Amino acid sequence: MALTSLPGFRDFFPAEMRLRTHILAGWHRVAGRYGFEEYDGPPLEPLELYVRKSGEEIVGQLYRFTDQGGREVALRPEMTPTFARMVGARAAGLPKPIRWYSTPQLFRYERPQKGRLREHFQLNMDIVGESGELADAEIIAAAIDVLREFGLGEADIVARVSDRKLMAAVLRQCGVPEDSLNGAFAVIDRLDKEDEAALRERLGKLGVAGAATDRILGLAGDSDLTLEAFVAGCGASAEIEAAADRLACVLDHLEAMGLGGFVRFDATLVRGLAYYTGTVFELWDRAGEFRAICGGGRYDGLLEAVGGPDLPALGFGMGDVVLAGLLTSRGLVPEGIPAVQDFVICETRDQRSLGLRVVHRLRDAGRRVVYDFADRSMARQLKVAHQLGAERAVLIGPAGGNEDVVRLRDLDSGDEERVSIEDLNPTND
Ligand code: HAM
Repeated sequence: MALTSLPGFRDFFPAEMRLRTHILAGWHRVAGRYGFEEYDGPPLEPLELYVRKSGEEIVGQLYRFTDQGGREVALRPEMTPTFARMVGARAAGLPKPIRWYSTPQLFRYERPQKGRLREHFQLNMDIVGESGELADAEIIAAAIDVLREFGLGEADIVARVSDRKLMAAVLRQCGVPEDSLNGAFAVIDRLDKEDEAALRERLGKLGVAGAATDRILGLAGDSDLTLEAFVAGCGASAEIEAAADRLACVLDHLEAMGLGGFVRFDATLVRGLAYYTGTVFELWDRAGEFRAICGGGRYDGLLEAVGGPDLPALGFGMGDVVLAGLLTSRGLVPEGIPAVQDFVICETRDQRSLGLRVVHRLRDAGRRVVYDFADRSMARQLKVAHQLGAERAVLIGPAGGNEDVVRLRDLDSGDEERVSIEDLNPTND
């Protein structure tokens, strides 16, 4: 029986690998332009790290087991708890704000579907030690700029932005008990995923009743309101106004960066993860064909909760799966460059040593070079060179000819030029 890969896990054949490398390279470029330093952590972590910090949705999707030493462990489903632990351990000695990024492979036992697999690569960019609105704008701008880097524009994507403090104030105002706020966020997160009866039942279990239930379910109709219109409809509350002013400031900064056209307030966006405390955002394709491309926000209590200092923090995660789908559907995947530039051919077998010298000179000059291992006929070798998409055949020989000269044949035009071996790599001498 042929052994295949597990459901939701990918084999990266060269074509898929090229796209993955293209995406990773774009992530590294943009993170570098924002002055972020790269870090990584272990792919396997103590189970406890996620059970305490990630929230029930992710905990239900863990690849978890007991290791041979009897430890309860899990493959990392997200990077934020690892990041919080690592940065927390060193934060005291680091200049603030700390800007770190990583591109881990993550594992979640989700139902494989369009845009969701059981492993994915995820760009994480996070800032620690800054509570001002500029950091929120900077993180959202970085996420948008990653997508711009791949050729996506305002017409393609939208950043939906909200603030959990604002929504907590709204929930308090309509009577949601303090210890039910997180549960109510989980319901808001599911407004477009579950039917009304199921959501009412969830709210009932949280002790939320009457007008508060209607207000929460009614949020679904508010998702197109501007921040001003939403706040105006909430009725006066100092807490709501303070949170709304802060969010307005974040949106103003994004406007000043020239990114205003990408961004809109969305009262229904609260995010599923438990640790967010302030600004939350997600990037979506405007056409609504794909799942969220990216999500993040502020998590000011998390570092302390994993044993670190009490420092504000925020960041986002962007997966490669939706991004790859989106770039493919928009024709934004660049043609791969051929793996081979030069195919070196010895016309006779006794020129093998000279051939190897030529191959090495070309490689030292930075060319991508291969040759035939099996001394097949010249016609056959030329055919292989074409199949590989090589630019040039480098022809050596025949025996008795000028040992210092090779012929460079352009495989498109068939034109040939004679070049001395010394000149193949002018930097080599
Ligand atoms: P998240 O919303 O769970 O956030 O994931 C962020 C992004 O990762 C999603 O928008 C999606 O692109 C991708 N993603 C998540 N799960 C899958 C999956 N099963 N298959 C393919 N792609 C997936 C977090 O993980 C937070 N830790 C992000 C963060 C960093 N917040 C602050 N800092």
